[in-house]
Amino acid sequence: MEPGIPLDFLGDLQRTHTCGELRPSDAGKRALLMGWVHRRRDLGSLVFFHLRDREGITQIVVRDRPDLAAKADLIRSEFVIAIEGLVELRSKDTINPALATGEVDLVADRIWILNESRTPPFPMEDAVEVSEDQRLKYRYVDLRRPRMQRNVILRSKIAFAVRQYLDTRGFLEIETPFMTRSTPEGARDYLVPSRVQPGSFYALPQSPQIFKQLLMVGGYEKYFQIVRCFRDEDLRADRQPEFTQIDLEMSFPQQETIFGVVEPLMQKACEVAGLHVPLPFPRLTFAEAMQHYGSDKPDRRLPAMVQVNHLFEGEGLYAHGLPLMIIRIPKVGAISRKERDEIKAWGQEKGLRVFDDMKRLDRDFPAAMQQVRELTSATEEDLLIMATWAGEPKGHRPEFTTYMACGQLRLFMAQKYADKHGLFSQNKFEFLWVTDFPMFEWDEEENRWNAAHHPFTSVLDEDLEKLTADPAHCRAKSYDLVLNGTELGSGSIRIHRRDVQAKVFAALGFTDDEARRRFGFLLDALEYGAPPHGGLALGLDRIVMLLCGESSIRDVIPFPKTAKGTDLMCEAPSTVPEKNLRDLGIALRVKPPAQ
Ligand code: AMO
Repeated sequence: MEPGIPLDFLGDLQRTHTCGELRPSDAGKRALLMGWVHRRRDLGSLVFFHLRDREGITQIVVRDRPDLAAKADLIRSEFVIAIEGLVELRSKDTINPALATGEVDLVADRIWILNESRTPPFPMEDAVEVSEDQRLKYRYVDLRRPRMQRNVILRSKIAFAVRQYLDTRGFLEIETPFMTRSTPEGARDYLVPSRVQPGSFYALPQSPQIFKQLLMVGGYEKYFQIVRCFRDEDLRADRQPEFTQIDLEMSFPQQETIFGVVEPLMQKACEVAGLHVPLPFPRLTFAEAMQHYGSDKPDRRLPAMVQVNHLFEGEGLYAHGLPLMIIRIPKVGAISRKERDEIKAWGQEKGLRVFDDMKRLDRDFPAAMQQVRELTSATEEDLLIMATWAGEPKGHRPEFTTYMACGQLRLFMAQKYADKHGLFSQNKFEFLWVTDFPMFEWDEEENRWNAAHHPFTSVLDEDLEKLTADPAHCRAKSYDLVLNGTELGSGSIRIHRRDVQAKVFAALGFTDDEARRRFGFLLDALEYGAPPHGGLALGLDRIVMLLCGESSIRDVIPFPKTAKGTDLMCEAPSTVPEKNLRDLGIALRVKPPAQ
């Protein structure tokens, strides 16, 4: 677009202050500000601009300067301008308490128009609702809005605080390759074709897992990296195809050593957001988390479930010895028949038998129900539901299947009443470690065991025998960090012995050949003096999301993808010219989309 109006050069103009800086003590001083025109108000002989930059907003006044009026008249929203003038105290009745600079004006005596702007696709105010597609298409404009500026700035400060902290703890930031072989984190890989070796592909790393282990074999002892990871998986509000981990690894650690590094790290990150979180973080084993919350990432802003089989023994309320659970949602008050039916139907859909009529249970089992109320600390205002598994036991650990279905019902119920009662208050930060995960998960589709974390995770010393004898009960030295029901991070003590690693590969159904082909270099490395080691990776995007009070990581990533993995701004992914495909030795088996 050709400029429609004459533009000025920046030349050697320099700002004296930012737009968030001027205060009453600056009155009488000269200042030169640069920024974007946030808003403009024309009162005839008086023109007001709100000039905005990253640091804030300053009100500019053009008055008694007919020579400037013509220029001021050209200026529209989002023009980029420089203004020089005199700082003046505002009269008491015109002070704007909503602005940090609201006690002063800058009275302009020179104006430079550095660039014009088309009318922006949406206003810069947070209060204006804009569709996410619009925001992502014009992300460079969206990024100027106060909410995004706050989020992106907080993200930078958190990352910096983490680097500083890890440096003081003796960690080295070491880069690992992006063009590599497949790393098994359970998702599909993004592949990059090699031109020089047609038919061969690099995989973008799902995490630096193997490399950070090799760095321990390489003798670096304490590694970290704030690193991009790539996973081709179904996207959700807390998942992006490329996302950032705070990844770390240590030599000679116990689980406690890792917790001792990560807890203060999280405390520092929270401090950046103005929050104090007490240490140490509470802990639950996976089995406890399941039993009390029906989830491996419990949301502890809500009360735990309580198992009450012992109070109803022989009453026919539960079968196969499967858990009978009480779910309590506080302060919901009386709910309608229709709402109860809805809860019941939802639970039944998940395979549960749901007892929603507490009055009837009170009548039929008065003594047991009295104890239920004591055990759960229920008040009259609380909503109580009892549930158990309805049909034949399901899965290798049927009790876990029951807990999980009850846990989902608990969250469904809580979410139903969340807004009404502030159940998920954003101001509560309930950190939690979950430890001793199962080593394996049964894969229904493939009919085999998969590594629950990843195949480099150690088994609890006392469960080593169960590796092959009883995989369903074999526990791992692995742990997750959870905040308010979101998994923030995950890690483990690794296998450092070649023989144990080979056993785990075998338990996962890898033949020797397959294990050699995929991980031969790791198996070799374990034979060259691999130290005991372990670590963890935290999701930076999720941390920033929760600390910003956002509900999607897209709002803390400057240039995110949509749920379909598309970049709406630069329209990626895109087709490529036939010649590029030919160079790579690639022939398409699908018709490329029209572009
Ligand atoms: P894991 O796969 O559990 O462990 O990932 C660690 C953390 O990374 C974040 N995360 C994601 N964030 C956004 N979008 C995604 N698609 C996504 N996937 C994962 C989560 C998660 O807790 N190598 C191991 C760590 C280790 O053992 O040290 C690993 O990557 O916050």
